[in-house]
Amino acid sequence: MRNKIVFYLNGNKEEVGADQAGLMLSDYLRLKKNLTGTKVVCAEGDCGACSVLRYFPHHQNAVNETYIPINSCITLVANLDSSSLVTVEALKEEDKFHISQQAMIECHGSQCGFCTPGFVIALTGLVEKKITQNNCSVSKQEAKNALTGNLCRCTGYEPIIDAAVKMDLKSAAPLKDRYFSNQQENELNETFKESVEIKTTEFNYFAPKTIHEALDYLQHNPNARIAGATTDLGVVHNKRKINLNHILSLHLVEDFYQIKKIDNEVMIGARVTLSDFRHFMKNHLPEMADYLDIFASPQIKNLATLVGNVANASPIGDTPPALMALKAKVVINGIKEIPMKDFFKGYRQTALQKGEIITAIMIEIPSKDSDVRFYKNSNRKDLDISAINLAIHAEWKDQSRKELKDIIIAAGGVAAIPMRMTRTEDFLKQTPDIQGAVQVLHQEFNPLSDLRASAAYRHIIVENFFRRFFADCGGIQ
Ligand SMILES: Cc1cc2nc3c(=O)[nH]c(=O)nc-3n(C[C@H](O)[C@H](O)[C@H](O)COP(=O)(O)OP(=O)(O)OC[C@H]3O[C@@H](n4cnc5c(N)ncnc54)[C@H](O)[C@@H]3O)c2cc1C
Ligand code: FES
Ligand code: FES
Repeated sequence: MRNKIVFYLNGNKEEVGADQAGLMLSDYLRLKKNLTGTKVVCAEGDCGACSVLRYFPHHQNAVNETYIPINSCITLVANLDSSSLVTVEALKEEDKFHISQQAMIECHGSQCGFCTPGFVIALTGLVEKKITQNNCSVSKQEAKNALTGNLCRCTGYEPIIDAAVKMDLKSAAPLKDRYFSNQQENELNETFKESVEIKTTEFNYFAPKTIHEALDYLQHNPNARIAGATTDLGVVHNKRKINLNHILSLHLVEDFYQIKKIDNEVMIGARVTLSDFRHFMKNHLPEMADYLDIFASPQIKNLATLVGNVANASPIGDTPPALMALKAKVVINGIKEIPMKDFFKGYRQTALQKGEIITAIMIEIPSKDSDVRFYKNSNRKDLDISAINLAIHAEWKDQSRKELKDIIIAAGGVAAIPMRMTRTEDFLKQTPDIQGAVQVLHQEFNPLSDLRASAAYRHIIVENFFRRFFADCGGIQ
């Protein structure tokens, strides 16, 4: 059992104890390591100024083959255990700038410069991805996608996008050549094999190797908080509404990184990130991958777990309605399953009991003769939480798409919980009449007016998405 968090920072081994493991990584970098290139602007994952690059060697797949950008302002140092990190200070090689920095200089991508390190890290993440794929060109759209997690108040985005497109990828070498040796890999593999317990009056942290140890810990420490990637918890902590000082982290449980298809079901483990989930679904259900493209930013998705999005139980969380449409089940303690439609009990309340852990989510891949669509409405297209989201899965009696065998309609932003529109579902199964179904639909929910949208606007959007589904798939003409 270790009592230290171990990781590599710009090629150097760091061993961090109780006094610093509970800091946000940005504070650790700036205040303890004098690495002030990493900036903090919003401290809630929204602006990207605090971006750093992370490589997590224990979980190899197409997304994690190389260094990827994450936000350091909402990520506990403890959560980066067993990782290798690179900050903006380490990009320049002797007197030669990294190609992302050189392109930003040549294209005048910086004015006051406060956002610039974050943009450079996001661009370097794009370079890493591209050279791993042996692809030497960046399109404007790829540049925009890679930069959705970064805000600039003064340059304007065009010069930065120009810099992304003009980066000289042919001359780039992967950061792993400079910052990740075989010796580091061996050391981090040994680190990953050992559980961690840090126990002081100020900070308690346990990262077990098995689900049994995790459940045992929760039984004896009922107030410990289960931490995923803290993209929700870290924001609330930074606002001083909670204190992340007693944590159970599941990052050392290898099985939780699994995502696999068994027949027509997909099992998504508790540590599977939204980037991993998106990548996997691209081949099995492209509609889900497209939907996740407008979930948060690359930095958030590279860390945040699907399970965290479900456990967080936000009424406007993006995945719960989509997962309901895929007949999802929440797997608890590895043994019990609750259908997602019965999981949400009240505002931010779920069927999860004290001492229980979500170990996985199971979903069904829809059959070929069905249609599935996911829709999201938010004030801003990228990096914004939904005002409304709607997911529909229709199974047709035949290819004419006039009559339904079954239909699931699930929405977020319409009530205190993500909810199924069961009366509309029942109506449509008996009466293939969209106009009639719209009447039932409006009676089924009574949303709030809040900062994101008025109740009247929410009604309009739900109706529009509902009608759009049938237009998109050409059903019930
Ligand atoms: C800038 C920004 C943009 C965002 N954009 C979106 C968006 O577009 N759409 C959206 O839906 N959300 C968005 N979010 C919210 C957040 O990123 C997601 O909810 C994310 O999936 C949470 O996962 P996590 O691993 O970080 O969870 P954490 O923050 O670690 O945990 C969230 C909750 O889940 C619980 N939990 C975690 N793992 C388990 C487990 N295994 N068993 C039981 N409980 C568990 C935790 O105790 C906590 O209560 C955004 C957040 C930020 C900061
Ligand atoms: S400081 Fe804004 S995302 Fe971290
Ligand atoms: S250059 Fe000033 S905020 Fe981007």
